[in-house]
Amino acid sequence: MNGERIGVGLNFRREIEDDIVAHLERLDLIEVITDALFVRDDVGEALRHVLRTKPIVLHGLRASLGAAEPLDADYLRATLEMVERWQPLWFSDHLAYSRIGGLDIDQLMPVRRTRDNLRRIVAKVRALRSAAPVPFLIENITCYFDHEGEELAEPAFINAVLREADCGLLLDVNNLYINSRNHGFDARAYVDDLDLARVVEIHMAGGYCRDDLLIDSHGHRIGRPVWELLEHVCERARPRAIIIERDANFDIGDVLESVARAREILAASDRRVGAAALAGART
Ligand SMILES: [Fe+2]
Repeated sequence: MNGERIGVGLNFRREIEDDIVAHLERLDLIEVITDALFVRDDVGEALRHVLRTKPIVLHGLRASLGAAEPLDADYLRATLEMVERWQPLWFSDHLAYSRIGGLDIDQLMPVRRTRDNLRRIVAKVRALRSAAPVPFLIENITCYFDHEGEELAEPAFINAVLREADCGLLLDVNNLYINSRNHGFDARAYVDDLDLARVVEIHMAGGYCRDDLLIDSHGHRIGRPVWELLEHVCERARPRAIIIERDANFDIGDVLESVARAREILAASDRRVGAAALAGART
């Protein structure tokens, strides 16, 4: 799944669209929420400018890959229209369900990791992939409770979807860190169990702590442990892009600082790979 490195960018938000346009030269790419494109006829001047001048990736919210019901035909059609129109490098959605009995619940719910659900998700991802001209990625979500009767560990479940549906991984490092803290597992061991050759994109964001529970807010500074986990990932994987997600408490200065820090981590990873290749060529 590896390809050319694109770099570091952020998710497009109307609240900071003027700042994004003003600092566009400091961003290598922009992630745009697919749903935001098809709920309005007019995408607006700032977003149109971004879509036309920067590499973009599309990120969907409501494919509901983990639902028992089939993919919603209207949602699928609208998503594919946006992919055709705006030509993203790739598009993505979550390993979750957000629809029950045809009703959108407006929440990303974790999927029970059974072999039946695995088969269903693989079939849906294959359908999405085969209908689109660009790669499709699945993203790991935060999960605040455990299902009973899980048949597979999460890394094994994700790896199986990646392999059997032949898609890429959007690894949300903050989601992984939050889950590891709230559920008491080793985030680094989780990373090491993943098929890291499939990591195409990474999400970074900040959260906060309430009553000993870490909450994924996308509205706070990115914490040190999340940066350290990103370093661990980038020592092992070759993501094409990192997106800084910010959905609240907008602070363009803080976001741009995070963009620069993520870029440094990618550069350190490139230097390590270059040094290893040089050492290999000498032996
Ligand atoms: Fe994310």
